[in-house]
Amino acid sequence: MSSILITNIAELHTVDAEARVLRGAALVLEGERIAWIGDAAAAPAADTAHDAGGRAALPGWVDSHTHLVFAGDRTAEFEARMAGQAYAAGGIATTVAATREAGDYDLTRLLLGRAAEAARGGTTYLETKTGYGLDVEEEARHARIASTVADEVTYLGAHLVPAGADPEEYTDLVCGEMLERVRPYVKWADVFCERGAFTEEQSRRVLHACRAAGLGLRVHGNQLGPGPGVRLAAEFGAASVDHVNYVEDADVEALAGTWGGWDAASGGGTPGTVATCLPACDLSTRQPLAPGRLLLDAGVEIALASNCNPGTSYTSSMAFCVTTAVLQMGLSVAEAVRAATFGGALALRRHVGEDADGKRAVGSLAVGHRADVQLLNAPSPTHLAYRPGMPLTHAVWRKGVAVSR
Ligand code: NIG
Repeated sequence: MSSILITNIAELHTVDAEARVLRGAALVLEGERIAWIGDAAAAPAADTAHDAGGRAALPGWVDSHTHLVFAGDRTAEFEARMAGQAYAAGGIATTVAATREAGDYDLTRLLLGRAAEAARGGTTYLETKTGYGLDVEEEARHARIASTVADEVTYLGAHLVPAGADPEEYTDLVCGEMLERVRPYVKWADVFCERGAFTEEQSRRVLHACRAAGLGLRVHGNQLGPGPGVRLAAEFGAASVDHVNYVEDADVEALAGTWGGWDAASGGGTPGTVATCLPACDLSTRQPLAPGRLLLDAGVEIALASNCNPGTSYTSSMAFCVTTAVLQMGLSVAEAVRAATFGGALALRRHVGEDADGKRAVGSLAVGHRADVQLLNAPSPTHLAYRPGMPLTHAVWRKGVAVSR
């Protein structure tokens, strides 16, 4: 198993519970795991050495919310939106039509290209969803293709009721045959609980059925207006509720109530429902930014994710999300970096893992965790907000392998 020693790191941010910032540190990656972290003067020998040149080292980004299995684009819809038209979920149908047309080879090639683009930007752990298939064969095909590329796959048959379908009958399909067919490929299930998508009752049926099938739960909630999504996610013990743009006091209380068994200081205990904020989507749809500051202050753990998709957020740049969270959402740099790494891992329940069998923790730098590391082209992560839009990803290792740039 080959090893690499990374030295001359200006600041090493562990982003674990202790949130250590180590100066003069080095780390050793061995195979797919982090084998050693400590003072550079005491570093063990390794097969190769990499001089970080006085740059900052962070965990790779954990992007816990994307929709990357798609064909086509929606430039015209975006232009109309920038001219004043409101976002409506109906645009999903445009992508469904284009994606159904694409064969396996093309869809896989597109997905691989997007995953590689994300990795070059520092993303080392990636979730993606179905949801542009919306019939049994297509959802199963998208789930299968996604499972060959992404680290985690989410079943989102409940993204939109297809044109002409009866909403109750379609919900039955999502909870029945479609679920059975996607089940071998997915770990999570999600539902778009929103006016114009799935009602509270339909969402409940989806969440019950998917939980009974052994899937972990996530919810798209409160994106376009106040609604039951956030409270439903808390009630069902979902790992994450995503978007959270329009939250009321009762929503914040419900989310905060799920974190009673969690000890933020030690990073131990049972995590509650993470609020996943999607700032690139909020800007692209001209929605109010998710209230990350308010949620953190209420004791809710948050994640930042790209929501890369052709309709509402055609970017996989986690650095952009971090920048926006600091400049526009009131987070400190440390809070934003944590939300984009450890927070995403929490939202995918991969903040802990075993130092064996490949199921290692991600989102923080500690011995035994997955060797997912990025070097910024800057001495500290503050530069992500201080120098917005600059290409600050210098080098990335995913599972111990350097990502080609
Ligand atoms: O997370 N909100 C629903 N789903 C996507 C949008 C998908 C689309 O418009 O194509 C989202 O923003």
